[in-house]
Amino acid sequence: MGLIRVLSDQVANQIAAGEVVDRPASVVKELLENALDAGANRIRVEVEAGGRRLIRVADDGQGMSRDDSLLAFERHATSKLRTADDLLSIATLGFRGEALPSIASVARVTLETATGDEGAGTRLEIAGGKILHVEDAALPRGTTIAVADLFFNTPARRKFLRAEATELAHVTALVTHYALAHPEKHFELVSATHTIVSAPPVTRTAERIYQIFGKDTLAALLPVAAEAPLAHGGLPEPPPWKRDEAEPAKDPGHLRLTGFYSKPELQKLNRNSIYIFVNKRLIRDRLLMHAITEAYRNVIPPTSFPVVLLFLEMPPEEVDVNVHPAKTEVRFRQQSLVHDFVRDSLRTALIKARPAAGFLAALDSAPTASPSLMPVAASPLPGTPDHVAPDSDPPEGGNWAAQAESFQLAAQTPPPIPVRLPFDAASMSQGGWLDRQAFGDAAAALFRPSGEAGLEGCEPGAGAMDQDAARAAAQVEAERSAANLNELGSLRPMGQLRESFILATGDDGLWIIDQHVAHERILFEKILRDRQVEQVQRQRLLMPLLVELKASQMVVFARIAEELDRNGFEVEPFGPQTLAVKAAPVGLEGSALERMLAEVIEQSSADSTEAKQNEDLTALRTRIAASIACHSAIKVNTPLDPARMEWLLLELAKTSHPTSCPHGRPIALLYSWKEIQRAFHRI
Ligand SMILES: Nc1ncnc2c1ncn2[C@@H]1O[C@H](COP(=O)(O)OP(=O)(O)OP(=O)(O)O)[C@@H](O)[C@H]1O
Ligand SMILES: [Mg+2]
Repeated sequence: MGLIRVLSDQVANQIAAGEVVDRPASVVKELLENALDAGANRIRVEVEAGGRRLIRVADDGQGMSRDDSLLAFERHATSKLRTADDLLSIATLGFRGEALPSIASVARVTLETATGDEGAGTRLEIAGGKILHVEDAALPRGTTIAVADLFFNTPARRKFLRAEATELAHVTALVTHYALAHPEKHFELVSATHTIVSAPPVTRTAERIYQIFGKDTLAALLPVAAEAPLAHGGLPEPPPWKRDEAEPAKDPGHLRLTGFYSKPELQKLNRNSIYIFVNKRLIRDRLLMHAITEAYRNVIPPTSFPVVLLFLEMPPEEVDVNVHPAKTEVRFRQQSLVHDFVRDSLRTALIKARPAAGFLAALDSAPTASPSLMPVAASPLPGTPDHVAPDSDPPEGGNWAAQAESFQLAAQTPPPIPVRLPFDAASMSQGGWLDRQAFGDAAAALFRPSGEAGLEGCEPGAGAMDQDAARAAAQVEAERSAANLNELGSLRPMGQLRESFILATGDDGLWIIDQHVAHERILFEKILRDRQVEQVQRQRLLMPLLVELKASQMVVFARIAEELDRNGFEVEPFGPQTLAVKAAPVGLEGSALERMLAEVIEQSSADSTEAKQNEDLTALRTRIAASIACHSAIKVNTPLDPARMEWLLLELAKTSHPTSCPHGRPIALLYSWKEIQRAFHRI
């Protein structure tokens, strides 16, 4: 007898579950996606014990007929796909017909569903993949799926689950993400003890960000929107003899980007606060991560990361979503086009906005290791038993590819800080979205007999737009747009502080400008510009400068020699381990020149890992430019006459990124008129 056997459905489903379901958050993800695909406008997620004991997702979507509800748990049963061709243009979040059978193979599932037009609905119980019970039940339109005792029959998997608070944090991050992608829908996340997310419908993403993350986060973010026709993106045209005159070529559509990105002063130590959605699907993608890092290159330090919420929309044919069982990765048909589009749109937005760093905000702008963007109320409430320890934090710094690998879709555990209330006490008592009173109600709803716990039990006015959020978001946006760095060129310098900082006044308030980094930014951009047109000005040194190098450093030097040459250096070997520098870029001489060369060689030798060896030329180019700029810029403790200060401000205003020096430090801080008035108790 042969050895090979076809696996039973039950085993096959458990294997699939291994890929699709690895923790409560992934169950929530699948159920949320199903609800969204079913056209739900209101989705309520309840969890107990971080989702280990119970996950219940209730929606008001189209529901299922009795037959369909039975079929839904069959492997490869889906209503979203018919032919292989459909795979090329998937417009739904699900399509594999795998999620429900996988979940049902490792948990006890109760499904309640009704289409609303047949009168009766269906209640179905299934555990470990076996249907236990099916009956008719009077239910409102929509679907509620309860998943209890996750991994009850696969103890090995159960062991991998983390503390309840950790699992809850992952679930929270997930619900938050989907709520962000669908501001027009009502999302709720409720645990046994309190409401974690309650986001009634709003019209704009800004309002949703306000609802979920609060005022401060929204104020630190800037909007971006861009569009590019795909036709001009290098799509191959069919040859003339293949073109059908009767049927003109289909318009390939557009690439659209909307979203929010952080001002340079807001920095994170990891990429957990970068969220990318493609056609409203949350994904992780190295390519786009790279594009975002590139957009911020030389605006924030290379070891810091921005906060970015990016929503990309493109025709479904342009993106293959069928590359990962959990559907968290995608493949773009025109990879480099998408990459460059994202990088350039963000970069342009940054250049255009030129946000001024607030004096007070800059004080605590050191990169934070904050786990992720978390809803303001998601930190464990006082009295929460579980003390949470972070798990699976991606490595800090290092190369982006390795980090992208460990990028988590779910947020890291929130630190155990006391809950921050999003508004002042007054708005809380008016029934703001985080209403402690509602915690009790939500808990009560959890224990109502199922059926009653459906969506009709919501408070009056649910489904209506959240007017408070709209008003508050508009106010934050109005304040945010007030000050930008365009004013720099018209400032009146008054003098220096300790011969290091320029003090200047303008209509917006009092400015303090770091003279060294300001000049550094001016030089940096000039060097890159001149380098582009091969016009870096070099100056001959009166006496060649002799530099001693170690053998390994000579190897590094050989690698960067050509780039140095293009930047105005003339360097010749002078013995086996000595170099003679005969010319250097204008403004760089003496010990500064020596230090600059040592720095570039040092930085380049630290890069001898393979990833860095292949590092594109742009990175090396900007590193050398940054180093030349830093070492030839006006130093601190240097007196400047008024004309020089004025020149510096004018030139700074002309740069594309007057916000920060090439190493990411702020250049100009604004003590705004409003802050000044407030500090003097005038308003
Ligand atoms: N909340 C829901 N409301 C209405 N129909 C649903 C709901 N959840 C599931 N279904 C139906 O059950 C089918 C199976 O769901 P399942 O999640 O297993 O597969 P899928 O969504 O088609 O694909 P995937 O495995 O990629 O999620 C769906 O195609 C859909 O027709
Ligand atoms: Mg699905």
